[in-house]
Amino acid sequence: MKAKEWTIDRSRVVYGLGKNDLHFLDIGNDGKLFIRFMGKTIAFDELIRKIESENGSRTAYTSSFTLRMPQLIHYQIHKLKSAFTRVMAELDYKGKFGAVYPVKVNQRKDCVIPVLQADRSYGLEAGTKAELYLIRSVLKDEKDRLIICNGAKDPEYLRAIEEFVKDGYNIAISIESIHEARLIVDILSSQETSLVLRIKPYLTVRGHWSHSAGRDSKFGLSIHDLLSVIDLLKKEGFENCVTTVLGHVGSQITAIEDFGRFAGFMTRVFYELRERGLKELRRIDFGGGLPIDYTSSHSPNLMERYAQAIVMGILDEVKNIGSARQPPDIMIESGRGITALSSMVVVKALEVRSVFPPEHELPIHLLEVMENWKNKLSDAASISELADIWNEYLSVAKPTTETLESLLDKERFVGELRAEMRRQLARLGSKSLRSDRILENIWYPDHIVIGNFSVFNAAGDHVLVQQHFPIIPVRDLHLRPETTVRLVDITCDSDGEISQFHRKGVGEVWFARDNRPIAMPNAEMGLGIPVGSLKDVQGSYFVIALTGAYQDVIEMNHNLLGDLPDVELILTPEGDWKVTWVSGAEAMEDILEEMGYFGIDIDEDPYMSE
Ligand SMILES: Cc1ncc(COP(=O)(O)O)c(C=O)c1O
Repeated sequence: MKAKEWTIDRSRVVYGLGKNDLHFLDIGNDGKLFIRFMGKTIAFDELIRKIESENGSRTAYTSSFTLRMPQLIHYQIHKLKSAFTRVMAELDYKGKFGAVYPVKVNQRKDCVIPVLQADRSYGLEAGTKAELYLIRSVLKDEKDRLIICNGAKDPEYLRAIEEFVKDGYNIAISIESIHEARLIVDILSSQETSLVLRIKPYLTVRGHWSHSAGRDSKFGLSIHDLLSVIDLLKKEGFENCVTTVLGHVGSQITAIEDFGRFAGFMTRVFYELRERGLKELRRIDFGGGLPIDYTSSHSPNLMERYAQAIVMGILDEVKNIGSARQPPDIMIESGRGITALSSMVVVKALEVRSVFPPEHELPIHLLEVMENWKNKLSDAASISELADIWNEYLSVAKPTTETLESLLDKERFVGELRAEMRRQLARLGSKSLRSDRILENIWYPDHIVIGNFSVFNAAGDHVLVQQHFPIIPVRDLHLRPETTVRLVDITCDSDGEISQFHRKGVGEVWFARDNRPIAMPNAEMGLGIPVGSLKDVQGSYFVIALTGAYQDVIEMNHNLLGDLPDVELILTPEGDWKVTWVSGAEAMEDILEEMGYFGIDIDEDPYMSE
């Protein structure tokens, strides 16, 4: 494909923009990344300029930052609620729908308040005592909202709940073990207690955190404990306190069909529990699990399909059971699905380092050897032949004791030969190309971009669980990418890198101008973020999107690099937009104090000045 045949639509496909959970990011005709939301478009470079003009040239105020868009939380809540409302109406479902937001997913005030503002009927879920205190404070004027208390409970937690219930809060307490059930009946009164039985969903689902389901789950009542808890509750007169049965199959469950089986399982349990005497049981809480499309490669309507799978799963089971029954009310505890879109990390590229010597004349004897290998590669008739030739090259290119000059020659030689190998791979593999270890090696990016950030602080799940986040350069997106780059941070840790790129599934292989694949017939994860023009990267920005769920919560201050500055973007009803400075980067002084070093008086942040 020639460079001029490249279109912006192709770039949209490559980066997954303008669709699914990246529907609010798109590319202008000038190749600039922009936000499009509520009918307004805002180019990133314009937004960055505005921030700079408002904050002068101080590092913490003009370099990398976290961009927060609370209106995307409203958007997600309305989308989720209308998905359930529509599906329930279509299927003539007679139960009610309700939702609570688990604050553990992002406890920041600028996340929790938009959730509450978006929907007056939304509740909150606490996983610890501290989270319950947070919830008490934000709901002090809206005590009727439902609060679900999950997580391990000690007597103090239960006494706090008792006190808050007396104060008018609407709290349901989950029971996860026989020990907790005993504490509850000992400490609380059956007159003022609402209970949730959290059970282990005995089934397998597919997804990264699917070990939250099944027998070995850390959470919920095992079947024998469930039966003992019911006996205890009945004996102590608490059976009518149970309003809800809860199951959670794990976060980010991408196999949406599995929610149908899960709903069937929960429905069976629900009716059986009612038959066992829990007459006030009226609701199934399906926990979280609603996935976010981090790769922009799932079907566009995950929420709708999720709602459908749950509602139909219940109805199918009701039909199986036979007799006409009042269907349960549905409750969900999605957090990732609500907050992930609402923040993104905007990383400034400080410099670009080249792995191979960019310009260097090889001595004549090496040019001859190079010619030889190039001829062999260009004579190859298949990819496996190319791989054989490459293996042959590797077997003869043994490391030797080298002078700096010969090492320089060698590096130039390898860089050039790899480029030739890529050219030949593109010649033979334009229709289909399956990556393997050799090929990934050949495609490994030649350029390292140093970003003014810490992966550990900005996108910790990438390091912890290799979670994928989409990364998009803010400029030159109209060009056929020149090459791919690695994005590394300024920590002294080799894990401080976020360079995974989802090569989308397309009819034939799409190559960057230097023959690195950027989309393939078999979609797959590869290393290297495509960039339009390498020379423009330094001083420009990359957006790490969909970081609004969990990343603020699990951030790590590795190397004493703390939070980036926070900037909030708000679109006004008049069709205007404004960016508000929320905070600068975390000060070194504060981070040092966390480590026990008091009195080090330094009024600066730890990120790089330019
Ligand atoms: C009980 C419970 N509810 C809700 C959630 C949130 O799930 P998600 O990350 O899918 O939004 C979790 C998280 O794992 C959970 O444990």
